Amino acid sequence: MTIGIDKISFHVPDYYLDMTDLAHARETDPAKFHIGLGQDQMALIPKTQDIITLGASAAAKILTADDKKMIDMVIVGTESSTDFSKSAAVTIHKLLDIQPFARSFEIKHACYGGTAALQQARDYVAAHPDRKVLVIAADIAKYGLHSGGEPTQGCGAVAMLVTKNPHLLAFNNDSVFYSEDVYDFWRPAGHDYPLVDGHLSNQIYIDSFTRIWEQNKKINQTTSSDYAALTFHLPYTKMGRKALRAIFPEMSETEQQRLETRYDEAIIYSRQVGNLYTGSLYLGLASLLDNSKLAAGERIGLFSYGSGAVSEFFSMTLMEDYQQYLSIEENQLLLSKRKRLSITEYEEMFAEKLPTDGKTYTFSDPTKFAINKISDNIRYYNK
Ligand code: CAA
Repeated sequence: MTIGIDKISFHVPDYYLDMTDLAHARETDPAKFHIGLGQDQMALIPKTQDIITLGASAAAKILTADDKKMIDMVIVGTESSTDFSKSAAVTIHKLLDIQPFARSFEIKHACYGGTAALQQARDYVAAHPDRKVLVIAADIAKYGLHSGGEPTQGCGAVAMLVTKNPHLLAFNNDSVFYSEDVYDFWRPAGHDYPLVDGHLSNQIYIDSFTRIWEQNKKINQTTSSDYAALTFHLPYTKMGRKALRAIFPEMSETEQQRLETRYDEAIIYSRQVGNLYTGSLYLGLASLLDNSKLAAGERIGLFSYGSGAVSEFFSMTLMEDYQQYLSIEENQLLLSKRKRLSITEYEEMFAEKLPTDGKTYTFSDPTKFAINKISDNIRYYNK
């Protein structure tokens, strides 16, 4: 039986910061951000929106009434949870009117959570072939104003519907995993922002990829030529490029160019959004599907990395006529219609937080699924 991603969509808020503006404000050469990190814009989120807003908005674009009757699980991969106990998934389940006899829960391991959710979805559909699973990878990457990680912030959500006989991509059941207990990036309880050893995190990312790539070659008996494209977790777009180039010595120059061209197509959206932690790999996948001319039957490799560190490499095969099931214009419009904020507006938006005193406050953000009230520390959302 073929199982895979039947539909994919993403959502980002209506605001962004241009990286040249950030560079000028931080007295940095703009080339460091645009070329050195590979980022042109950074998605910004107001206090009236959170991962529930982002995740519900992404999923609402792809779900039909029939899908909502067939979904047995809603899994949210995130490291930006709004609650240590209640999951974002159960609120999204309600906002989207998914049939009530469903499992809804959150999965966490840094930027790896979305992949854990996706693989769990695959296993569920293998056991229940007529049912569907909604996977959402949603995050808000914030490191703090003037911090080393500031130019690698961002936010957004990717939603994927996992079914049998999918329209887009089929799993090949060839996952290879790797775990290493390391403190490159972590966020202990009580910390608003992660603690991060940036240069160590870059090194562990590359080491994890090269190790898992070797293991993949051994276990799955593949070489780079078996993949039409290799996609990567994208904390900033230069990161995946560095990992890809780490395996260039084993390839011809033509092969290097082929994979780097596909890589450039896979980072078009991320260059405009920045890091969405667990959604970043899948925003890259969406960008590849929308911007590459690939053929049915071709195989795409996916490298998922979650600091701390867990990584996974797996592949998916493109389905017949997959192009018909993409929303390319809608995705491009979502990015192009956003409002560019000034540095002052960005810093003000960054500093604003929802109150935590338990009193009642109302808000008037008209955005679909935005927070319209907080009371007793319960968030209420537009529907
Ligand atoms: N023109 C062109 N390039 C320039 C330049 C200029 N004027 N000035 C600097 N650069 C280049 C540098 O040469 C460097 O390129 P290489 O990496 O290819 O050598 C690049 O710009 C970055 O420069 P620095 O290393 O000096 O930058 P930095 O010290 O400010 O740190 C960072 C960069 C470590 C990524 C930091 O932004 C950070 O800590 N970010 C958060 C952590 C992160 O994203 N880690 C990624 C791996 S972990 C992960 O993937 C999980 C996750 O999502 C967080």
